[in-house]
Amino acid sequence: MAKTTAAEQAQPIAPELAPNAHVARQYEAWVYPAPIMDLAAPEHKNRRDGGDFERNFYTYWPDREKREDLDVLVAGCGSNAAARYAYNHPQARVTGLDLSAASLAHEAYLKDKHNLANLTLQQGRLEDVAKLGKTFDFIDCSGVLHHLPDPVSGLRALGEVLKPDGTIAIMVYGQYGRTGVYMLQEMFRLMELGQTPQDVEMVKHTLASLPASHAVQDYARRTRDTKYDAGLVDNFLHRQDRAYTTTQCVQFAEDAGLKFMSWWDNVLYYPEGQLKLASPLYKKISTLPEKDIWAYMELYNGTLGQHAFTVCRKERAESSYTLDFDSDALLDYTPAARAVEVAAKPGTPEGSICLRRGEYPVFTLSPIVSAIYKQIDGNKTVRECMAASGVAAQLGSDAEQLAATRTAFRYLWRLGHIFLRLPAAA
Ligand SMILES: C[S@@+](CC[C@H](N)C(=O)[O-])C[C@H]1O[C@@H](n2cnc3c(N)ncnc32)[C@H](O)[C@@H]1O
Repeated sequence: MAKTTAAEQAQPIAPELAPNAHVARQYEAWVYPAPIMDLAAPEHKNRRDGGDFERNFYTYWPDREKREDLDVLVAGCGSNAAARYAYNHPQARVTGLDLSAASLAHEAYLKDKHNLANLTLQQGRLEDVAKLGKTFDFIDCSGVLHHLPDPVSGLRALGEVLKPDGTIAIMVYGQYGRTGVYMLQEMFRLMELGQTPQDVEMVKHTLASLPASHAVQDYARRTRDTKYDAGLVDNFLHRQDRAYTTTQCVQFAEDAGLKFMSWWDNVLYYPEGQLKLASPLYKKISTLPEKDIWAYMELYNGTLGQHAFTVCRKERAESSYTLDFDSDALLDYTPAARAVEVAAKPGTPEGSICLRRGEYPVFTLSPIVSAIYKQIDGNKTVRECMAASGVAAQLGSDAEQLAATRTAFRYLWRLGHIFLRLPAAA
């Protein structure tokens, strides 16, 4: 934790924010993230928050048709996120909640600029969210819970205002990928740095002079936060932050009386996109229990500085969001593409297609999986995709065809190349 200077301590904090005073002071002085001045500008127009329900709807509600008229809470909204949700989802009713009046002032600027009548802004602690007297279908809480003095009671408070079939999308820091960040935080503590502009200059000097082999370098290159002062404070001079392993994320949800549902992005947590399928390592890892696979892949990957996942209330039926790859139920799921086909890379085998998703490298599917993937149109079921692909003859007996179907769809889902939709709830 960075040192608090006398000037910072003198900054007044409303009594109701007192339990979070360190964090509140920081985000008054260093508004995060960098304020966006125009959500309609070309560089922002098509951007969505990582947890946005438009991108991840079938992860959050695999048994539902997409809908927009949701009650949304952006808990710890910072300077932009609540306005961005309201702007991108005009039918949704969005509430932005934050400790920081300075951050909310920028959200209010965006609200005025874009006439966001569907946005309500509220200063306060998310621990006290029940005082709003509202409940929500969807709660986005990204980069916030790890800054609470007691993250479990904060998450529990969010669970209490979640509708019974609602979803909370959470992003918290990942432990191993931030090893270098915590080394620097400790260095700056030894230097007795606070959060003044001079202290930020010292952070910049340090980053510029560190050995190329330092554990923070990969993280520092990849994050946008090293490009501006509030981002540097947020990472290296924070008053209060902690990080989680995959196992701790699952435990976090349970400790808060909620249920862990899924990761937003499977490719990070399964070996299919990271290990060669023919390798002895893959064969060994893929036999582990699911939660051990996640823990293993986090250690194997080594660079996950964030974990993004969803949780829901305990009473929500598991059958409304749990995928079953082991029973025939899989045949009635409807796959929806999450990647786009791109021009084949040189040397791509005959019949194979290449897929791109977001910023991940282009991925080549085998000819059989390519034939199946080409049938995915968001309407056909798994059974129908298999029939239309014409690959059955290459797969052998009925039992072998069924086994190959399971393998192919689990593989595509673990790569993050498809969503799988469950038959609509009765
Ligand atoms: C790192 S920023 C993330 C902002 C936003 N969620 C985003 O992803 O752009 C953390 C924000 O959470 C707010 N915050 C921290 N603790 C909070 C709490 N207990 N209740 C409400 N807001 C909180 C801070 O004021 C800050 O604006």
